[in-house]
Amino acid sequence: MVEKVILGEMRPGQQGDFFVLLVEKTRRTTRDGKPFYSLRFRDQTRSVSVPVWENSPLFEPCEGEWESGQHFKIRGVYSEHERYGSQIDIQNIRPAVPEDAADGYDPDAFVHSTRFNVDELFDQMIADAESIGDEPLRQLVLGLLKRHEEELKSCPAASRNHHAYRGGLIEHTVSVVATGRYLAEKYQAYYPDLEPPLNADLIIAGCLLHDIGKLRELSWGTETAAYTIEGNLIGHILIGRDMIREAAAEIPELNPELLQYLEHIILSHQGTPEWGSPREPMMPEALLVHFADDVDAKMNIFVGILDAADGSTEFTDGSNVLRRKLIKARKV
Ligand SMILES: [Fe+2]
Ligand SMILES: [Fe+2]
Repeated sequence: MVEKVILGEMRPGQQGDFFVLLVEKTRRTTRDGKPFYSLRFRDQTRSVSVPVWENSPLFEPCEGEWESGQHFKIRGVYSEHERYGSQIDIQNIRPAVPEDAADGYDPDAFVHSTRFNVDELFDQMIADAESIGDEPLRQLVLGLLKRHEEELKSCPAASRNHHAYRGGLIEHTVSVVATGRYLAEKYQAYYPDLEPPLNADLIIAGCLLHDIGKLRELSWGTETAAYTIEGNLIGHILIGRDMIREAAAEIPELNPELLQYLEHIILSHQGTPEWGSPREPMMPEALLVHFADDVDAKMNIFVGILDAADGSTEFTDGSNVLRRKLIKARKV
């Protein structure tokens, strides 16, 4: 009798039956021109790669029937390859069915989520918005946040790369606001004679709203997020600007100059055209929002790469979004 196991707890050489989510299915060709599929399955804590060669009995169902986002029951042997990392040698595989619940199958268990409590994160966002001194600007930000409370509590920050999990956007945003606030206070004190003084309201509002367009750029359910048509055609930066403009139209008291600066912060938050921003930051507040966003996204990418890496080599392989190897073999 084969043991029921959890993929994330398997030891090299161990055989078992377990449930996984297919997260990636890519058709490739070998050096001698034969097609094969490179698959990636995962559970909550571990992801494994599986090549399916042309001459394998799995090739046909893989090509014709399997889709990423589907759940499977696998019988296989776990191993850790020096170059390819965690792998599974599949002996048996079929799509998971509701009756598998009796054997411990839980579809919700595959949803990657923020490790923080989203209700608390939302309360933090509201408290941050309430700290904005300019009344109409505060009203604008609070209105947008409250109108989108439900989506904000579940939206990922991306379909891949950084904070690409349920609640990732709100986790990222709250962290960006904290860094933005720190930078605002630091540089207000550091350059007390700057005229006009650094506008902390703009920095806080900019941090809170910088990625609000992701609510319409992405669609997300229980599986990985995808780009909507609007997300593909317009992108979260311009969608965010539109959302802010639409909301601002209902607040006639809002200073148009302040609104324009807030729009500039949204447009320039990704720093450069290569990173999707039509404008580079042209005011100190925009620069600080950009860096607060950037450091939070990059830290999440670093940690994600290191978490996913196995311990068999000194460096990660560099095939990540940063196109950079990170050192793994550290003693301190
Ligand atoms: Fe962004
Ligand atoms: Fe962001």
